[in-house]
Amino acid sequence: MKLLLLGSGGREHAMAWKIAQSKKVEKLFIAPGNGGTGSVGENVNIKVTDFKAIGEFVKANGISMVVVGPEVPLVEGIADFFQADAALKNVAVIGPSKTGAQLEGSKDFAKAFMMRHNIPTARYQSFTGETYDEACKFLETLEAPYVLKADGLAAGKGVLIIPDLATAKKELKEMFDGMFGNASATVVIEEFLSGIECSVFVLTDGDNYKILPVAKDYKRIGEGDKGLNTGGMGSVSPVPFADDTFMKKVEERIVIPTINGLKEEKIDYKGFIFLGLINVKNEPMVIEYNVRMGDPETEAVMLRIKSDLVDLFEGVANHDLGKRTLEVDPRTAVTVMLVSGGYPEDYEKGKVMTGLDKVQDSILFHAGTAINDKGELVTSGGRVIAISSYGNTKAEALAQSFKNAQVIDYDKKYFRRDIGFDL
Ligand code: AMP
Ligand code: GLY
Repeated sequence: MKLLLLGSGGREHAMAWKIAQSKKVEKLFIAPGNGGTGSVGENVNIKVTDFKAIGEFVKANGISMVVVGPEVPLVEGIADFFQADAALKNVAVIGPSKTGAQLEGSKDFAKAFMMRHNIPTARYQSFTGETYDEACKFLETLEAPYVLKADGLAAGKGVLIIPDLATAKKELKEMFDGMFGNASATVVIEEFLSGIECSVFVLTDGDNYKILPVAKDYKRIGEGDKGLNTGGMGSVSPVPFADDTFMKKVEERIVIPTINGLKEEKIDYKGFIFLGLINVKNEPMVIEYNVRMGDPETEAVMLRIKSDLVDLFEGVANHDLGKRTLEVDPRTAVTVMLVSGGYPEDYEKGKVMTGLDKVQDSILFHAGTAINDKGELVTSGGRVIAISSYGNTKAEALAQSFKNAQVIDYDKKYFRRDIGFDL
């Protein structure tokens, strides 16, 4: 078959790398792709939100499956767009309907969904500018720190965790006044949960499901999880605390009620469900839903999927995922992200990269690279390249990625040397 993957990050390079290994795929296109995806498929210069152009390209090239990497096209309704077009409705779209994507697109929707289906999550209430006074009263019933979440998509920046009540009230006002544009017109205020987080990925056809390898990501720029939030500095899979006992709770209390809840509410959902979980004294609670894979978790998780990923996608499309097998590599996989100095604040681009050809026994997934007019590979983003490695232990896998993090070089390179430190 011919397959189109949408997206342009390290996550999409990792997915493209895995998809390209499938015997079922005769041709892989990536739109728009990046400097790395071009080595495993053909990049097509179309934006992920240009549904019309995507539809035309799919028709013109006889593509039978579209895999959606990022959340924005899902929240904007790409699956519904395909359904509404007679010539596209038989194309398999791996990604939920617009309503299903509200699990990520609206935190208020997600929280209300969890309440309706008894899925463990932090106590919360939602407010708008008109109910600011009530919101302040609700804040007063909670203990510090205070968690304020913009309802809508805010490129991963819409959550504020504030140590004191006065500041929380002030920031809340600013959120209503447009701190995150329209995304914070509604704000979810919730109880702070204390524990260690992990990411659980579920692939579902709406009835059947497969739980993919569990991973943990490292979001802060600084070692010891200090400093500003980033798009992700590294990841580790598996996660030791997510053992069989913990995962049984996750499956029974979260995965099954989520899929049954979607079904009961007649929400069409074929794709990934990403459960952002927190382990509160060995009890899993949901911090957030996403409707896609995580980045940089995917750069580790793809290494651990031994089965043909496209076969699993066919199971999603044909509604027989239960008949497909998911075989997982027992080894540990880790990812260390090389970033541009200064990121996530201001940083320079266009730094010439060297040493990639000397990397051994790691897999490189490009996130922000480009080729300059001299034909050299240069940095073109904050997060530059993911170095993923296998090991029989976490330490072994990390040692391999750290070794190659020294081999690749460019001006002002930075990476965290403590990925996995807390596991
Ligand atoms: P979210 O975008 O909902 O994943 O939130 C971003 C980050 O904020 C999460 O990964 C957590 O580290 C943190 N966070 C969100 N909600 C809570 C909560 N209720 N308690 C503690 N930390 C939270
Ligand atoms: N790694 C977290 C995310 O992709 O949202």
